[in-house]
Amino acid sequence: MKIWVCGAEGLLGKTIKAEVRSTKEQADITSLDSLNMFASNHSGITHIINASGYSLVDLAEQNRNTAFQVNAMGPENLARIAADIGAKVIHISTDYVFPGNISRPLHEKDPVDPVNYYGETKLEGEARLLAIAPNSCILRTSALFGNGGKNFIAKILKMFQEKEEIFLANDQINSPTYVVDLSKTILNMLNFSGIYHFANQGVATKFDFGYEIFQFMRAQKIAMKTKFIHSVPSSHFPSLCPRPAYTVFDTSKIQKMIPIRNWKEALHDFLRTRYEPEL
Ligand SMILES: NC(=O)c1ccc[n+]([C@@H]2O[C@H](COP(=O)([O-])OP(=O)(O)OC[C@H]3O[C@@H](n4cnc5c(N)ncnc54)[C@H](OP(=O)(O)O)[C@@H]3O)[C@@H](O)[C@H]2O)c1
Repeated sequence: MKIWVCGAEGLLGKTIKAEVRSTKEQADITSLDSLNMFASNHSGITHIINASGYSLVDLAEQNRNTAFQVNAMGPENLARIAADIGAKVIHISTDYVFPGNISRPLHEKDPVDPVNYYGETKLEGEARLLAIAPNSCILRTSALFGNGGKNFIAKILKMFQEKEEIFLANDQINSPTYVVDLSKTILNMLNFSGIYHFANQGVATKFDFGYEIFQFMRAQKIAMKTKFIHSVPSSHFPSLCPRPAYTVFDTSKIQKMIPIRNWKEALHDFLRTRYEPEL
């Protein structure tokens, strides 16, 4: 078995252990030539994990062509390469394929209908991948957190150091997901096919998530400037596009085989690792 991870320097990609790793510069998933060239220099690949993506939700509205090329054409190109070299694709998709108007955990077969362009491109990527490589495995996930990148936790931790009071949205509900938990699960699902929902257990708004971090830091006496966190509707923040209101996953399909822990436990692990020297 030989695993190739595309998007190896991204928030998720960084955490996936694999023999072969490529960045956008080394293997551009929007270009079949670039992928072919990379694949021909690495023989014996059996699995391709696509951790790459255009993940800037607001900017996708403006940079439509790039978002489409990366999120829709990228998976199709990987399917073609995988067919050529006899490998299997494991692809990462998103809760944003759902409209977010059903207030119960979402099953893999629930109707999709994205509310923004990012979601549309990710949905198109799923379809294009499965049309060419129907034995692929697609893991839809939500609200990733971990070390590095432009993710929400990095933004909150920075705000805690800089601002006395901060405002966090209380009306978009999903399940925060630790990239370390997701990458372990991906490696346990290399031979699965079809669509699966993966998120840490439990539900949270951005306010719940931020408040949990705040309480942890206060309990551990980690220095921060923030004294107050305000719970506000998401209309408080300027945004270029709508986001689905409720995208909690029903993860029972994966949980029949692989246990998944609660997001608070995962978050505490992440914070302990990050602040180890201070604890
Ligand atoms: N972050 C979330 O909350 C979240 C939630 C649900 C699903 N997802 C999905 O999970 C996957 C990983 O997300 P992430 O947060 O780890 O994203 P990320 O941090 O933005 O990483 C994506 C990586 O893909 C690379 N990339 C962009 N265009 C590429 C191209 N043409 N060819 C090859 N690589 C390219 C990026 O490189 P550059 O930085 O150099 O552009 C970056 O290293 C994505 O498919 C995303 O849609 C993310």
